[in-house]
Amino acid sequence: MSTKKKVILDCDPGHDDAFGIMLAVQHLDVLGITTIGGNCTLENVTRNAIKTLEVLGKADEIGVYAGHSCPMAVPLVTAPNFHGETGLDGPVLPEPTHTAREQHAVDFIVDTVMANDDVTIIATGPLTNVAAALNREPRIAERVSEICVMGGSVTFGNWTPAAEFNIFVDPEAAYRVFNCGAHVKMTGINLTRQCCIGIEHMEEFRKIGTKAANFAADLTDFFIQQDIKEGEPPIACMHDACAVAWIIDPSLIVAAPMHIDVELNGALTRGMTVCDYRHLRGVDPKVDIERDAQMSYRGEEPNAEGALELDFPGFMELLYSTLKNYD
Ligand code: BDR
Ligand code: CA
Repeated sequence: MSTKKKVILDCDPGHDDAFGIMLAVQHLDVLGITTIGGNCTLENVTRNAIKTLEVLGKADEIGVYAGHSCPMAVPLVTAPNFHGETGLDGPVLPEPTHTAREQHAVDFIVDTVMANDDVTIIATGPLTNVAAALNREPRIAERVSEICVMGGSVTFGNWTPAAEFNIFVDPEAAYRVFNCGAHVKMTGINLTRQCCIGIEHMEEFRKIGTKAANFAADLTDFFIQQDIKEGEPPIACMHDACAVAWIIDPSLIVAAPMHIDVELNGALTRGMTVCDYRHLRGVDPKVDIERDAQMSYRGEEPNAEGALELDFPGFMELLYSTLKNYD
């Protein structure tokens, strides 16, 4: 029996999602990959997930299950400005020979979590599939080990000043997930912006020279061109890979318990993750005058952990060794 942690990876590849897949497939027991319309259309992100598994030689073993094509309450917003027209521009890969499994992603999540103890859901796209699974079978919240989300932020946004892309795309779904009762790990962009891969890392990938490492280099080559800022070296943040790395090796990330909720209505803040870093929720400031000194959970218990600091050298060590081990 595998001693690896059992996970479902719900994603929208996406360059950084593909890095997440590379890490997950080697270090975790990936029960299945579910896809969600996000960075690109559902059709494209599903194809990209299959292509990535084919590069890694794992497409026979690990099924890809297509999920929802758009959010619960609003039209889909995609990110071709970062991931190109296909959602995975850059690497030149043949058309995949595998296809997605018949089962819908939401059915797969429900059946798999109900049939297996201690499954962790890692979600690196909009949270539509996970929320739909929770709506279909609310007992999932008690059954899962935890839900590790790449999305949101303890500080600033990236799609709007307040909101990060994955949460912005489907805030209603994110609200459902953060309020489901399961323990949520939030790998927000305040953390993932500490995971910047540049030219020197890309050159290391090329030196490693395995098929997976060359794929990683080609992905990076495209991705770093998308967000060039004048006077700064080209870099790409591997957001989604951080969420996967956190499950593989929790020591790579320093986090703090906090209550996290999602703003649905703010004219300027829709999709913002409101992080109760100082445990103020449910506390009456007039009565509880000692709260600042105490910093204890006088109000509501935290529902989440917000990631704060990444051990970037440790992350790169994990990534390099993973890419070396692929051939
Ligand atoms: C998130 O948005 C997507 O473009 C990335 O794949 C990542 O999941 C970062 O905000
Ligand atoms: Ca993603």
